[in-house]
Amino acid sequence: MKKSWWAIGSLFFAIAAAIGVLAIPNPLGEQVLAEAKYRGYIPYTTDDAVSLAYSRCTTCHNADKMLKYCARCGPPFIVTVHSMKKYVELLNQKGGQFKPFSDAEAVAITQAWNGLVGNWEPGWGLKNIHKLLQGDQALMRLAETPLENRPIEMALKSKSAPGAHKETFTPQ
Ligand code: HEC
Repeated sequence: MKKSWWAIGSLFFAIAAAIGVLAIPNPLGEQVLAEAKYRGYIPYTTDDAVSLAYSRCTTCHNADKMLKYCARCGPPFIVTVHSMKKYVELLNQKGGQFKPFSDAEAVAITQAWNGLVGNWEPGWGLKNIHKLLQGDQALMRLAETPLENRPIEMALKSKSAPGAHKETFTPQ
C-alpha cells in the first residue's frame, strides 16, 4: 500500500515537473527541472553532467583532485564517487550541511569523470568493484553497464578535460 502511494506521489511529481518545466520558463521552472533530474525522473544531459561534476566535486578540494587522478593513483572513479558520497553522508551525520549526492548525480558524475579523465574499471574487474561499492545499487548497476549503454560517458569518449592526462584503457 505504502509503495503504491509512493509511486503515485512520484508520478504526480513527474507530471508536475513536466508541466512546470513546460509552462513556467523561469527560475522556478528551472528549480523543478533540476530537482526532477536530481531524483532521476529526467535524465541529466552530457552538459549537465559535466557542470555537475565540476560544481559538486569542488566544494572540499579543487578540480585538480579529479584532473590529476589516474589509474596508478587508486580505484576507478565509480569507486571514488561512491566514497565521496559516503563521506558526505558521514559528515552530515556529524552535523555537516552538505547536499547529499543523489543516485542520479553519482551515476552522471561518474560518467563525466570517466569520460573526461579516464575509466580504468576494466583493469579492476567487476567483482572487486562490486566489493568496493559496498552495496551502492545505483553505482553497481552502472558498473554492470557496458560503455555503449552509458550515454554521458559515450558522448565524452573522445574528449578530455583541460589539465587532465586522459587515461585510455583498451580492454583485452
Ligand atoms: C565533503 C567533501 C568532499 C566532496 C564533496 C568531495 N570530496 Fe573528494 N575528497 C575529499 C577528501 C577529504 C579527500 C581526501 C583528502 C584529500 O586527498 O584531500 C578527497 C579525495 C579525493 C580524491 C583523491 C583520492 C585518492 O585516492 O587520491 C579524488 C579523486 C576525489 N576526492 C574525487 C572526488 C569526486 C569525483 C567528487 C565528487 C563526486 C568529490 N571528490 C567530492 C572530500 C570531498
